[in-house]
Amino acid sequence: MQDNNIFIALDFPDAESVNSFLKPFNLLEKKPALKVGMELFYSEGPYFVKQLRDAGYNIFLDLKLYDIPNTVAKSVSSINKLDVQYLTLHASGGKRMLEAAVQNKSKQLKLLAVTQLTSFSEQEMQKTQLTQVSMNDSVKHLAKIAYQVGVNGTISSANEAAMIKMATEESFLRITPGIRLLGDDVSDQRRVMTPRKARENDSSGLVVGRSITQAVDPLQAYQRVLREWQEGDVQ
Ligand code: C5P
Repeated sequence: MQDNNIFIALDFPDAESVNSFLKPFNLLEKKPALKVGMELFYSEGPYFVKQLRDAGYNIFLDLKLYDIPNTVAKSVSSINKLDVQYLTLHASGGKRMLEAAVQNKSKQLKLLAVTQLTSFSEQEMQKTQLTQVSMNDSVKHLAKIAYQVGVNGTISSANEAAMIKMATEESFLRITPGIRLLGDDVSDQRRVMTPRKARENDSSGLVVGRSITQAVDPLQAYQRVLREWQEGDVQ
């Protein structure tokens, strides 16, 4: 895992916007880890990911794979070639899909299973998935399946990190998006938390997008996230 465990979500439409966003970060001694999601990946492709790797960034490839086991296995083999550090897939793809990914990943690649999207409220989840099961029970169930088959961790709301730790073990990663600095716009997210609160709640890493990318001064916002996150260490 990257030293500070903060992943900046590069939710930008093209390489040009990314390069201009990253300019002030190039001055930092320690480069931040970057999350490349679907928007950027589908626009610029795997070669741009390689360029970011060559520039010294650790990459979290957030492609949220969800398909039949054979297709996921083959996709993971292709992704191994990109030399990225993290890859996401949906835990709801089930045990056999997750196992296929685990069996085909390179040694250095860590797999993170998305439990329930942080944009889902409990009610929305229940309506969509035609279930009465609570958000907590659903997240716990999916996290346990991922843990049992050898996935390296989960993506969930920080609200669920402590519960996932209890249901699995400390070394099973709990990476949490839906992070907002105090005063930021929540936007489409529904289950949000500040970096400090996420740390107190047993998150082991944060994905932060708009609180940094849309800030007036992104570098300053990143440093604020880092400070809140690291101060949690000594509390
Ligand atoms: O801008 P914001 O901080 O809300 O961005 C959160 C990022 O984390 C986005 O790139 C989104 O795709 C991702 N994500 C999420 N919830 C999940 C999994 C990933 O918000 N459960």
